[in-house]
Amino acid sequence: MTSIQAELGIIERDFTEQVSAASSSEELQQVKVAFLGKKGAVTLILKKLGSLPPETRPAAGQAVNSLRDRIEAVIEDKRARLDEIESEAAERSSMVDVTLPHRGRSGGGVHPVAQLTHDVIEILAGLGFSVALGPEIEEDFYNFEALNIPQSHPARDMQDTFYFPDGSLLRTHTSPVQVRSMLRHGAPIRIVCPGRVYRRDSDPTHSPMFNQLEGLLVDRDISVADMKGCLETLMAAIFSRPLKARYRASYFPFTEPSIELDIECVECSGKNPACRICKGTGWLEVAGMGMVHPNVIRYGGIDPSIYNGFAWGIGLDRIAMLKYGLTDLRILFEGNVPYLLSGRSL
Ligand code: DAH
Repeated sequence: MTSIQAELGIIERDFTEQVSAASSSEELQQVKVAFLGKKGAVTLILKKLGSLPPETRPAAGQAVNSLRDRIEAVIEDKRARLDEIESEAAERSSMVDVTLPHRGRSGGGVHPVAQLTHDVIEILAGLGFSVALGPEIEEDFYNFEALNIPQSHPARDMQDTFYFPDGSLLRTHTSPVQVRSMLRHGAPIRIVCPGRVYRRDSDPTHSPMFNQLEGLLVDRDISVADMKGCLETLMAAIFSRPLKARYRASYFPFTEPSIELDIECVECSGKNPACRICKGTGWLEVAGMGMVHPNVIRYGGIDPSIYNGFAWGIGLDRIAMLKYGLTDLRILFEGNVPYLLSGRSL
């Protein structure tokens, strides 16, 4: 045996040992480099061939080539097996086990005021009302003037208004939508207008932004009885039972006569002198209303000698507090998700 063949024998043994120890394609690649790379054992021996005597060169060359072929074949075979094992492992690690329990998720909920708004619109749709909306940045004309509140009227002091430098303002109530809707649609008309309103007011029972819901019905021969029927139906539907109503004379520039509606206390029905909701009075103020002032109808482009009607305004946040038993108004504005998702009955 020539020394070359002896060397090849050693190389092959080393290779067999190392290739069977390689447990990843990366390790296999290192083995390949160690034997077939530029400075690999087989390559180095090929370089040595030139220095052999010519008569032994062909046999030695053949022996080296056939070792190289065997090494290549073994490496390819092993690579195929490792690839298979590795891709199976990768697949297994990225597999989703659909039988695992979920990690929990944060859900959404309908805000109490949004839910109430939706319910009220639904109830009034049954009485023929449709939704009308108006801008929150309002003109003095619609917020005051057209509602029979002229420049010098003391009622302007009743409402602490946010003004913009150009004289426009954040609407202080949803009543401006009355005139806007009459001008747009004429008579007869039945609209309900929910929306945000703004006043310079902030304490435990007042928020600078709150939600009102305006109603307006204008038609021929409308009476106070129609108004009472409408509002009592609305209250009974909101609180899911008939409630006693009490009407008190009041004053609003845009209605004549003006009335305030109280309903029996939804908590104690007047039976608990220490009731925290009605403070023992047995009554809750829920709406301002009245027969629409002829001046307002006229500002709405409608002839008050032919048409008349009624209007009301209710505070949605207050109604939501009563309906859902809240004691602090602010919880409605704080985005307290645990509360909003808690088991309040909707
Ligand atoms: N706009 C009144 C307010 O914000 C509420 C109101 C009272 C609206 C009587 C009406 C109404 O439509 O007729 O206090």
